[in-house]
Amino acid sequence: METWRRTSRSVDQQAVATFTGEGAYHGSTRPRPSPPQAPPPAVPEMAPRTLDTMAAAGRTTIERFSATFPNLCDVLGVLPAPSQAAIRDDGVTFCWCPFDEALAEAGPLVRQVLTAMGPHLQRRKRFAYVDAKIQHFQPGDVPVDSHHWHVDGSIVARDARAERLGHAILHDMQARMDGQVAPPVCLAYQSSAHCATQFVTAPLTIDLPTLIPDFVELDARVQAAAPPVMSQPAASIVRFDGLSLHRAVPASSAGWRLWVRVFETDREVQLTAPLIDCYGQVFRPAPGPPP
Ligand SMILES: [Fe+2]
Repeated sequence: METWRRTSRSVDQQAVATFTGEGAYHGSTRPRPSPPQAPPPAVPEMAPRTLDTMAAAGRTTIERFSATFPNLCDVLGVLPAPSQAAIRDDGVTFCWCPFDEALAEAGPLVRQVLTAMGPHLQRRKRFAYVDAKIQHFQPGDVPVDSHHWHVDGSIVARDARAERLGHAILHDMQARMDGQVAPPVCLAYQSSAHCATQFVTAPLTIDLPTLIPDFVELDARVQAAAPPVMSQPAASIVRFDGLSLHRAVPASSAGWRLWVRVFETDREVQLTAPLIDCYGQVFRPAPGPPP
């Protein structure tokens, strides 16, 4: 399965999908015709220990807990701001591509970003994967199909145990926070000021179910808590991890944006569906009230 693709781009060719808020790519509860990835291998980083414990005890009530997000969010550096033409013409999209392969195939701008990220890789996990998207936004376009506060690399169960609790998928939030296994760690770059990811910048404790089917309640509770947030500076590299709350925001103006994320994890990702097909889409709200 492709983990990188080289294409030319123009404003006219930008793929646009209708924004549903439902959460394409991560956090999705939409039934999938085929799983995009093989069943998660049994690595401790991704083990749904809360679900395991509940199933072993025959419990079917999802309890709540006090969920603390440390919200690691460090700006490690700022690269020279690229021109709009340099972003448009960089060429290569990456989708769960191993770091060394991405470095070999990257366009000049992504290569510069990955080269700057290299010394910051922690290399405490088995794998380092690169995702990179080049998107052209009109004002109001969203880079993903969700604007919920969320975390990346959550522990997801899509199995009979989740179905028994009434959900197609469940994110085991308590297992991510139980301190037994370090969460995945990430480096992220985004090129432009007009569509900058927001990060919560201080530790935050909220009441949350131990298992959540999506990020709706988490989002509502973070919004209610109104923690301090930062918009990722243009052309910066930020370190965060699987307990860092962040969200996408609509573009404030038209223009190209390059987004790059390196994801260090113990989970081996082998794509079983062409996920890269939807990389680079933008999501445009339909006229009328928001979904
Ligand atoms: Fe994310």
